[in-house]
Amino acid sequence: MSTYIKPRDEVEESIQQWIAVGGPELPHHTSGQLLGKDGKWVARQLDFAKRYGIKHPPHKWAIMDKDARCLALAKLKTVQPEVQRHEVVRLPKLPTGDMPIEDMVAHLTKRSQERKAAYDARRWIECDVTLDGPIGLAMIGDPHVDDDGCDWEMLNRDLAVLDKHQYILTAGLGDYNNNWVGRLSRLYADQGTTGKDAWQLVKWLINRLRPFLLIKGNHNLWSGHGDPLDWMTSGDSTITSDWQARIGLKFRNGAECRIISAHDFPGQSMWNPLHANARKAKESGARAHVYVAGHRHTWGVAQHEDAESNHVYWLARARGYKVIDSHAEQLGFLSQRYGHSVLAIIDPDHYGSPRFVQMFSDLEEGAEYLAWRRARFAKAASRRVDYESEESLKVKRGRR
Ligand SMILES: [Fe+2]
Ligand SMILES: [Fe+2]
Repeated sequence: MSTYIKPRDEVEESIQQWIAVGGPELPHHTSGQLLGKDGKWVARQLDFAKRYGIKHPPHKWAIMDKDARCLALAKLKTVQPEVQRHEVVRLPKLPTGDMPIEDMVAHLTKRSQERKAAYDARRWIECDVTLDGPIGLAMIGDPHVDDDGCDWEMLNRDLAVLDKHQYILTAGLGDYNNNWVGRLSRLYADQGTTGKDAWQLVKWLINRLRPFLLIKGNHNLWSGHGDPLDWMTSGDSTITSDWQARIGLKFRNGAECRIISAHDFPGQSMWNPLHANARKAKESGARAHVYVAGHRHTWGVAQHEDAESNHVYWLARARGYKVIDSHAEQLGFLSQRYGHSVLAIIDPDHYGSPRFVQMFSDLEEGAEYLAWRRARFAKAASRRVDYESEESLKVKRGRR
């Protein structure tokens, strides 16, 4: 027979627990279950209590009638367990499908580095000119090739001039097609070419121009992501740029022609069509040689000198090829007839003087000027070769 006597304080605690679960009105096996024990354990606790003289409510179950017993058990079933709803089920740990935060931070850091490098590389896009002597840079005004108001006669003439003069580089100033989007899509009803025709014409124009630079105008930027221009020009031979590009043409003799080109610059003056370009030249402090824009379908060309630095630069705006513009007419403007594109002739041998860059508002006239300048350069170069060969002959004879 066991001689174990449970300490009094432990018995008192067990009795309190038995009272708390309603033990006096329950059978021992039920109150034992509620306490995680069994009926024998309850009977033992009551026995210990009797020995220590610990007072407690009497165990009434034995003297309760049937109704009272049923009531006590029913009450027990309605007692809510002391748990929170979220503890009722234990959920599995499901994977989120998201990148771990450490990986995300590392990824964003790498992407930020790449973007900063790409941005910095475009602050000035430096291009090496592989040819000696003067070259041309034709900056093509807004073609709007699919617009019914596009001057195809002049566009064909200018393309023919460019075909003949391979020393002339080409750059597009934007708005190659109307590219109507959103609410403006209704304007396709007013033009003879469809959206699909328009992109075919743009592709044809790019193949013909073979530009080294294409700036996207507002009509092109409406495309958003997936701009067909990006696909047409992917490769190493054309740089595409949103709205503006800063180009440095570096010649082999060390001269560099800096060109700030944009679809448009901020600023407006009813008295000066080149006001926005002049403002850019004054505000940027970039000491570029050419500030050129398109977009407004007006033209102008002017050469200036900054009196502080004696830096000479050009302001130019090309009107583009949309010569019939119903929108402009509704606003009360008539169309200008000339200056569709502008041409810069750059002679690296005159770097630092006003002769370094000359600009023309007519591609044909400018191309003829370039042909004359190149002929002069070729003649001077052949004289230089003759002189150098004579000198080398003299040296050889002297040595003999
Ligand atoms: Fe534009
Ligand atoms: Fe335009």
